[in-house]
Amino acid sequence: MRLRVEGGAALRGVTRVPGDKSVTHRALMLAAICEGVTEIADPGTGEDNLSTLRCLTQLGVDARFDDAAHFTVRGRGLHGLVAPAEPLDCGNSGTTARLMAGLLAGANVAATLTGDASLCSRPMRRIADPLCDLGYDVRVGEDGRLPMTIVPVTPADPDTAVPSRAVLKIASAQVKSAILLSGLYRAKGTEVVEPACSRDHTERMLRALGVRCGSSGHYGQPLAYADSERLPTVALHPPTSALRARRLEIPGDPSSAAFLLAAGLLVGGEVTVERMGTSPTRAAFLGVLERMGATAAARRRATLSTGEPVADVCVTGALSADVTIAGAEVPLVIDEVPLLAVVGAASPGRFEVRDARELRVKESDRIARTVALLSALGVEVEEREDGFAFQGLGGATWSDFRFDGMGDHRLAMAAVVAGLAGRGVATVSGADCIAVSYPTFVETLVSLGASVKEAA
Ligand code: S3P
Repeated sequence: MRLRVEGGAALRGVTRVPGDKSVTHRALMLAAICEGVTEIADPGTGEDNLSTLRCLTQLGVDARFDDAAHFTVRGRGLHGLVAPAEPLDCGNSGTTARLMAGLLAGANVAATLTGDASLCSRPMRRIADPLCDLGYDVRVGEDGRLPMTIVPVTPADPDTAVPSRAVLKIASAQVKSAILLSGLYRAKGTEVVEPACSRDHTERMLRALGVRCGSSGHYGQPLAYADSERLPTVALHPPTSALRARRLEIPGDPSSAAFLLAAGLLVGGEVTVERMGTSPTRAAFLGVLERMGATAAARRRATLSTGEPVADVCVTGALSADVTIAGAEVPLVIDEVPLLAVVGAASPGRFEVRDARELRVKESDRIARTVALLSALGVEVEEREDGFAFQGLGGATWSDFRFDGMGDHRLAMAAVVAGLAGRGVATVSGADCIAVSYPTFVETLVSLGASVKEAA
């Protein structure tokens, strides 16, 4: 699909975004091992979440997409997952493949995980290696890619002889969560140490389900602790009884909301996103926008049954300052970097990203693709192995441009936002992938006043 995006229209209004993709994956997987029926309220309905739902049905779970506002999952208990007859197809979803590997290793269920061409090119040793260190048998190809196979071990709880402490080399919520999910099955408990904080949705949801899961204070205010000597640590105590199903409320996805908020900011409009997730491990992009000169307001704060904080969020103001994203801030804004770079292109300041090598192994090489997008806007960018730097243009001065999303939903949406802010007509091809995380993106933009439509 090709989108035709006209720049210049003001965006105004109050809206919502689909449920958080990361939180929805976790809700589906944990609901599957609860006892009882879980209603997942306001879930993410993008293709990635549906990949998790489909994999669970292959594992014997009755998991249903009732409508856009509800999923229903009939849990099979901690030990009720069954070995699938066919490989589990995780589609484009890295979180499905990686969290599922941890869950299935812990549950001692034989399975093979695979996915689409993009997912099959992404690194999986980061999951297989720490799980093998904990005594599981998780195999990947010579090249460290999918397919990944979980081979049952005897005894099922292997941690009697090996340490159940994982010290991660990279700050990754996917790796941390895989280890925590496997830890639900280990009698002696599990500790995960990260070099910096990553998103903490798994920990919050486990606590909401009554599991003892302690996190060091770093996760509450991740940047305040960035230079502390102790590293962010999570300690999981295995559940002493069955996990009981409870209604799981999903916050609006901040990574989707960011596109609407940035678009509103760039066109000088006013967009409010209601019930956006504001976990400090996810909403840090607001802090970056504030450092660039914008004002972020959060009203009607509340906490959902999943332990997730939400608020109605609006970003206004003018961009004025230089900004650097580096170190412990990188994992907190990892999915927003391409979009923040578009905002940087319109700012008068210098924009720099360092320590973000991880971006090279996302749904695409997001450093190379962001540099390509910025170049299409007329920005001169210095590309580096772990990031990039450029001087902003002092306004969204670009006119017509073309960009191909090339299978990466976040790049395609960042290009649409650039088109809305610009002074001409943008053509964004390869835009079908937007449905991976945000199927109603175009519809919502149009409802706010944008001119975006499918190109003839
Ligand atoms: C995710 C964690 C992040 C993020 C991804 C979703 C999650 O990846 O980029 O989109 O749901 O845990 P890493 O954990 O690999 O950094």
